[in-house]
Amino acid sequence: MTVIQTRVLTKRYGGSKVAALDSLSIDVGEGVTGVVGANGAGKSTLIKILLGLLSPTSGDATVLGHDIRTEGEAIRTAVGYMPEHDCLPPDMRAIDFVVHMGRVSGLPPAAARERAADVLRHVGLAEERYRLMGGYSTGMKQRAKLAQALVHDPRLVMLDEPTNGLDPAAREDMLALVRRIGHDFGIPVLVTSHLLGELERISDHVVVLDAGHLLRSEATTAFTADTGHVLVEVLGEDAQSRMGQALAARGVAWQPRGQLLEIDPADAPPDALRDIVRDLAAELGLGLVRIQPQTGRLEDVFREEVPA
Ligand SMILES: Nc1ncnc2c1ncn2[C@@H]1O[C@H](COP(=O)(O)OP(=O)(O)OP(=O)(O)O)[C@@H](O)[C@H]1O
Ligand SMILES: [Mg+2]
Repeated sequence: MTVIQTRVLTKRYGGSKVAALDSLSIDVGEGVTGVVGANGAGKSTLIKILLGLLSPTSGDATVLGHDIRTEGEAIRTAVGYMPEHDCLPPDMRAIDFVVHMGRVSGLPPAAARERAADVLRHVGLAEERYRLMGGYSTGMKQRAKLAQALVHDPRLVMLDEPTNGLDPAAREDMLALVRRIGHDFGIPVLVTSHLLGELERISDHVVVLDAGHLLRSEATTAFTADTGHVLVEVLGEDAQSRMGQALAARGVAWQPRGQLLEIDPADAPPDALRDIVRDLAAELGLGLVRIQPQTGRLEDVFREEVPA
């Protein structure tokens, strides 16, 4: 099921020549969709347009079947939104704030209180929910922001950089929460980050933005699939170049990957290639650390496609 669809969506701020979003056409389905891009890539602009908070300069989009230009209110009723920047009133307790957000979203008072307590516990703010949010750590603030996005049982959530400012442990917790929302609770999630590695792990689908342009929109497995290449690591003096020369003499093409050798096994079947590498390492007196299939990583997508 398609939950978000954009067609040649373009946004220029205040008559600027440079488009913050440039002719973006994507389809977002169920599960977790990661939107990845560097600072200024257009991630927040996209989310604000999808919520009907900003109007696009041109192009169209629908969210849960609603037109962003005319049905922003219906979209905001159905969608949970976690903004990028701090939006928490410092002189409120998390419990009161989340109840309030539930009430604003149309929940009756008793249901709002019950749901608020549930979601706060779910995001890991159990005791802390009675404290004023002004005294919260960044990690606690991110959790409170997530709780208010979930309180009204949304049919879709949009999370703008939920791991921003978190230490590694808190980052892992947040990623696990996001994954659970998408998979265990079955609520489609659109989540942004400028860190590729973390979205790679929790997303079913990844959209890569670069300066407002769509670089790729693909299932995560397409990014991380086996590339068919083989990586070889050898140790010893001039290990890489000596092994490289010996391979080339056998007609095996290779290229450097850091300290490793990347081989396209098109010339030799993989089993034969393993034997060749092992024998050459022995002949040259090099330590053979590993021979392994190379899998793609999102980082490589960037390296290959974004001009430095
Ligand atoms: N209100 C605004 N007025 C003018 N330009 C803006 C405005 N908001 C964003 N921009 C510009 O639009 C582009 C995209 O910004 P946006 O905030 O959508 O990127 P982002 O991917 O969310 O970046 P970040 O990772 O820093 O949050 C940037 O060049 C930014 O300077
Ligand atoms: Mg942003």
